Amino acid sequence: MGAADQNTITRQKPRLMLAEPMLTMRGIVRNFGDVQALRGVDVTVYPGEVLGIVGESGSGKSTLLRMMNLEDTPEAGSYHLSLPDHQDSNLFSLDRFQRRMLRARHIGIVYQNPHIGLLMGHTSSGNVAERLLVAGNRNFAELRERARLSLAASEFPVERMDATPRELSGGMQQRVQLAKAIALEPAVLLLDEPTTGLDVSVQALVLDTLKRLQRDRAITMVLVSHDLGVIRTMADRVVVMRRGEVVEQGLADQIFQDPQHPYTQQLVHAKL
Ligand SMILES: Nc1ncnc2c1ncn2[C@@H]1O[C@H](COP(=O)(O)OP(=O)(O)O)[C@@H](O)[C@H]1O
Ligand SMILES: [Mg+2]
Repeated sequence: MGAADQNTITRQKPRLMLAEPMLTMRGIVRNFGDVQALRGVDVTVYPGEVLGIVGESGSGKSTLLRMMNLEDTPEAGSYHLSLPDHQDSNLFSLDRFQRRMLRARHIGIVYQNPHIGLLMGHTSSGNVAERLLVAGNRNFAELRERARLSLAASEFPVERMDATPRELSGGMQQRVQLAKAIALEPAVLLLDEPTTGLDVSVQALVLDTLKRLQRDRAITMVLVSHDLGVIRTMADRVVVMRRGEVVEQGLADQIFQDPQHPYTQQLVHAKL
């Protein structure tokens, strides 16, 4: 039995399809000048699952994830999260301040480039604590302890929590981003190529941490990658994007063993 099969068993997938969606996006359209980055994309994410979004460079993955993080607004489309205080509203109608609060409390994100997600000259613990501050926590000792716990959960060596990200390796920087992202137990964790650019051995360690977090806390994750191998090790379900459109989606096993769309077949076979 391979590692992927063992995962299937410990993750208890059947519950996925029974639940109400955690995240629902419908009809997302985004143009940059002549470039149609997103051409009417629908995505649904269920509680506790890892949704993998795969597609070649330029297919619109990062643009879609930025929408999920409310960093950008589409020309058309709606976005709902299953949160007690935002049940019925289209989140794109929120103003900047409301978006910032919602993001701080309910959404975590890890970017490929740590410079986007972190203050590189601040301590690692400070980067995580900053997230807790936004949510209103002001007690220094408590902030520091909660930052430490979050770093430990991300398998960051906590004796280095006062080092700045600038002083750390790429893998450790991603763990700081992760600690910051999960500090407030977000409803959804967004990951945009979190291991792209890391050495393969380091990449495997960071993916192991993500898997462990997912298993222990059942965090709902949306994982974007151009790397089919990363998607295969992590995702329960997969959305395949091409030129701003979803061309295929399904359970990971189905996508990898029996891809239907010619583009997916090409991706899967190129990888094998
Ligand atoms: N801010 C932007 N300004 C202009 N074009 C953009 C911008 N963001 C993305 N694009 C374009 O939109 C398309 C999708 O980009 P992106 O979502 O980054 O793709 P992916 O993450 O799948 O590689 C690309 O053609 C890209 O050049
Ligand atoms: Mg991208």
